[in-house]
Amino acid sequence: MIGTQADTGQPAELLPAKFNRHTFWCGQSGSGKTYALGVVLEQLIAATRLPVVILDPNSDFTRFHETRPGTDATAADTWAGRTVKVLGPTGHEPLHVRFIDLPTRTRAAIMRLDPVADPETYNASLRVGEQLRENAPHRSDIHEWLRSGGDPDRRRFAMRLENLGTAEWDLWAWGGRDARDVIDEEHDATVLDLGAFREPGEPKAAALAVLDHLWEKREQRRPRLIVIDEAHNLCSPDPSTPVERLLTERIVQIAAEGRKFGLWLVLSTQRPSKVHPNALSQCDNVAIMRMNAPLDLAALGDAFGFIPTELLARATTFAQGQAIFAGGFSAQPQVVQMRDRITVEGGSDVPVPMRD
Ligand SMILES: Nc1ncnc2c1ncn2[C@@H]1O[C@H](COP(=O)(O)OP(=O)(O)OP(=O)(O)O)[C@@H](O)[C@H]1O
Ligand SMILES: [Mg+2]
Repeated sequence: MIGTQADTGQPAELLPAKFNRHTFWCGQSGSGKTYALGVVLEQLIAATRLPVVILDPNSDFTRFHETRPGTDATAADTWAGRTVKVLGPTGHEPLHVRFIDLPTRTRAAIMRLDPVADPETYNASLRVGEQLRENAPHRSDIHEWLRSGGDPDRRRFAMRLENLGTAEWDLWAWGGRDARDVIDEEHDATVLDLGAFREPGEPKAAALAVLDHLWEKREQRRPRLIVIDEAHNLCSPDPSTPVERLLTERIVQIAAEGRKFGLWLVLSTQRPSKVHPNALSQCDNVAIMRMNAPLDLAALGDAFGFIPTELLARATTFAQGQAIFAGGFSAQPQVVQMRDRITVEGGSDVPVPMRD
């Protein structure tokens, strides 16, 4: 039960078995997307064995393992029986990735190397990358190691690393545990807290590492729900950096081909037009919260012909916590008032400081 029918007050349900499709989730800022997503994921995790991976750019799910005080005892008991792993500075373990174990093209994208525009540097860097993999120097001596031995390619690589500041990223595991190892443990939910990094490149590199990993293992056909909040950041139709380009490409590919391998997406965003249309068009399930912009609503109507026009028109007047559900996971299109969350929300709105 995800809430009540807005019109009748009857219980509102989704069909958990139909999360074997991609889902599009949208609503303007503050409409309650993330809250409602939490409600639905809680119910899904309670009802199924489908492992969920949450890419959480605003640290909204960092307390997803904790139940709220006052939660019904049966629901709290069920939740206590589920494994939720939060990766990030306030989580169960840090969110780290081993640079040397990333795919070559991802390492090159992070280092802003282009095989066509600058083939020489690219090729030399590949060689240094292999040496790095063999020697695996630690964070404290990477620059010194690269500059030792008099190899000009290594020296140039060191300069590039210093100029970009990449070696200083908190993301790197330096031989420690990698988020991809945790994901392979298939916890009921794995939350990747992408909101706490200092450099804008870090959350994107982390997301790419994880999505590439899930894609690489697709032949195993292990079902997985991949939830991407603020999906416009990772699946832009106009990516501007090499890492962003790889991210969009990977998500569009999972949207197009992932379904048969058990890789199912939930893409959540404020603006449908800011998510690549080839990802959006692959979604068979839709949740829509309050949306004021007529252009966005028209675009949703065009993209998802199965949403009745009169329901879509109501989205402009929704109160917080109201949503349309339509598509395969909803037996019929419905307007729902979401129920309360079982788990504690991580981030929260910043309040206006009041005078006494
Ligand atoms: N159904 C609800 N019941 C109670 N509080 C809610 C509900 N939905 C949302 N809220 C609260 O409203 C605030 C905004 O909700 P939320 O963060 O889910 O919005 P959002 O659509 O994800 O916004 P953004 O696009 O900015 O991320 C939060 O503080 C949340 O706790
Ligand atoms: Mg949100």
